[in-house]
Amino acid sequence: MVKIAFIGGTGLASISGLEVTQRQAVETPYGAPSGELTIGKLAGREVVFLARHGEHHTLPPHRVNYRANLWALHSVGVEQIIAVAAVGGITAAMGPAQVAIPDQIIDYTHSREATFYDGGDQPVEHVDFSYPYTETLRQKLLKAAQGVDFSVLAGATYGATQGPRLESAAEIIRMQRDGCDLVGMTGMPEAVLARELGVDYACCAVVANWAAGCTEGVITMAEIEQTLELGMQRVRQLLTRVVSEL
Ligand code: HPA
Repeated sequence: MVKIAFIGGTGLASISGLEVTQRQAVETPYGAPSGELTIGKLAGREVVFLARHGEHHTLPPHRVNYRANLWALHSVGVEQIIAVAAVGGITAAMGPAQVAIPDQIIDYTHSREATFYDGGDQPVEHVDFSYPYTETLRQKLLKAAQGVDFSVLAGATYGATQGPRLESAAEIIRMQRDGCDLVGMTGMPEAVLARELGVDYACCAVVANWAAGCTEGVITMAEIEQTLELGMQRVRQLLTRVVSEL
């Protein structure tokens, strides 16, 4: 049976409804992942959960050990990953609490360990990344979305920024010119590392706030947290549905 994993982002440090059967600490050649893998049953199916920022949300986006996380999931037999990501909304359709399944990425991150092909004896492979998310997995999410009571947008370009600070208004204007609909801090190198390992990967993005400069005033953590409460309720509904349909 194909094993599915969820990587939970800001606002999703655990999955309600998950009957936990095991917690597994995994060591990898790249060091420790963000925390133990939580293995359990959701809608009668075995799933694996990993909190990207650690159990107590102490790891900022640039300090997440993406290589260890992906390696650990792969090492326990995970073949499909749905990554949950809180994002800022840039284009008009991406208002607070909107859920979207992105289909493209632009990478603005830097100085992150972004590949498993990092020297040593192994021959370098340049993986294809034309379509960064696995289309079959995206389609499963979109099919599950037909059975929920909120709208899920099918397609968006995710701009991955370095963080942990939010962006300046001018940076968001540039990102919009580049074609970004969403801005988040963790989409890369997570997606490419999954590709390098041959693991299917799709993202379930939840808008936490309008991106910098898209509204008057500044962005507050209080606003983000409040919006994410509703947003993550939606995500939980969608994830449970997708698992039950697999
Ligand atoms: N920018 C980057 N990442 C984010 C944002 C944002 O506005 N909101 C939630 N994650």
